[in-house]
Amino acid sequence: MDRTFVMVKPDGVQRGLVGEIVSRFEAKGLKIAGAKLEILPEERVVEQYREHLEKPFFPGLKVYIMSGPCFLMAWEGKGAVAVVRRMIGATNPAEAAPGSIRGDFALDIGRNVIHASDSPESAVRELGIHFAPGELVEYSKIDEPVLYE
Ligand code: RTP
Ligand code: MG
Repeated sequence: MDRTFVMVKPDGVQRGLVGEIVSRFEAKGLKIAGAKLEILPEERVVEQYREHLEKPFFPGLKVYIMSGPCFLMAWEGKGAVAVVRRMIGATNPAEAAPGSIRGDFALDIGRNVIHASDSPESAVRELGIHFAPGELVEYSKIDEPVLYE
């Protein structure tokens, strides 16, 4: 099964959106494989966003991501990476489709509530940055036989 890395950013945690967001992924049929609340150290923010290190928005992004606890998750399921990216919506919440998480809960690109891996390669990389192997749980879930053909 495909696994993806998802993170409720500090604005989402402060606004009390963790439960709503977890509910959406559960309702979709995805399986939670790991979760924790953490204030990220600078090294992991830099690794996570290494493609953006030279961008003008990076300093502000780093301060924002480290401004409070993030809720880090691993979600599993068929096509999980692409499915979750569609569920979070476009980077700029002003353009994110209604029904998506950013479309429903955010207004500003610099406060867009949630992160999710953008490719299967990024998912493996990002899960490796944030979770030790023992923190991801393998188990079967009773809905699997009715969720999948
Ligand atoms: P993320 O990595 O957080 O899931 O977001 P994304 O793939 O949709 O967007 P990405 O291009 O990777 O940008 C990473 C995060 O940087 C902030 N950002 N600010 N002010 C700006 O122009 C700007 N552009 C990007 C956002 O928090 C974005 O999610
Ligand atoms: Mg990104």
